[in-house]
Amino acid sequence: MNRQLDLTNIPRHVAIIMDGNGRWAKERGQMRLQGHLAGLESLREIVRHSQRLGVEYLTVYAFSTENWKRPADEVAGIFKLVIKYVNSELKELCENNVRVGILGDWSAIPQDSRDSLRVLLDSTKDNDGLRFNIAINYGGRAEITRAVNRLMSEGRTNVTEDDISGSLYTAGMPDPDVIIRTSGENRLSNFLIWQAAYSEIVLTDVYWPDFTPAEYEKCIMEYQRRDRRFGGHK
Ligand code: FPP
Repeated sequence: MNRQLDLTNIPRHVAIIMDGNGRWAKERGQMRLQGHLAGLESLREIVRHSQRLGVEYLTVYAFSTENWKRPADEVAGIFKLVIKYVNSELKELCENNVRVGILGDWSAIPQDSRDSLRVLLDSTKDNDGLRFNIAINYGGRAEITRAVNRLMSEGRTNVTEDDISGSLYTAGMPDPDVIIRTSGENRLSNFLIWQAAYSEIVLTDVYWPDFTPAEYEKCIMEYQRRDRRFGGHK
């Protein structure tokens, strides 16, 4: 662990936009799916490292509502990787007391991936360690729209910010303290747009498959250098 890391100021909730798998693969003359496969290895290490650091909530953007625009074979390949991930990680996640959650409308994803995720959710539901959220077929605007519709279906005509927060997929969780995006892109891309109101955004040029625990610590150190005022002042 990096000695400059302040273990008394670890973000409670880290959210990550795992970007750059395609470019990582292209630079190696490989298929895009090879990049996603390598990205899965990074994910495994970052989940482990989040536990070591004492992060309470880790949320990753695995598949956005816009990702359906990709070629069908890439989309199918990503969902196969979800199954592969569950098969290889289920035991360790259970042993390590990780509780998995899904953000997004995952009813739309292929049945075999859904079945696999269902097993993952059911097997980890009683755990109370790291809360690991996987955003799948997730979009922030769709999430807010869904929340408003749910409130309206309860007959509400006037809602508060807390009502909306409490109707999002992240109900009951703290907002992310930091959102990390890899691969040099500078956008939120519809990720947790409501919850990101006061999140620190940390960007790194590293492609997701190259995002090691050491890179992760660098991002957290960058977060720790920020002066979070939440609209107030000192
Ligand atoms: C972004 O890279 C990556 C994705 C859209 C997919 C990431 C998905 C996984 C690693 C598998 C998810 C599985 C689980 C269980 C979470 P990109 O393809 O946009 O890269 P590029 O910008 O370089 O093209």
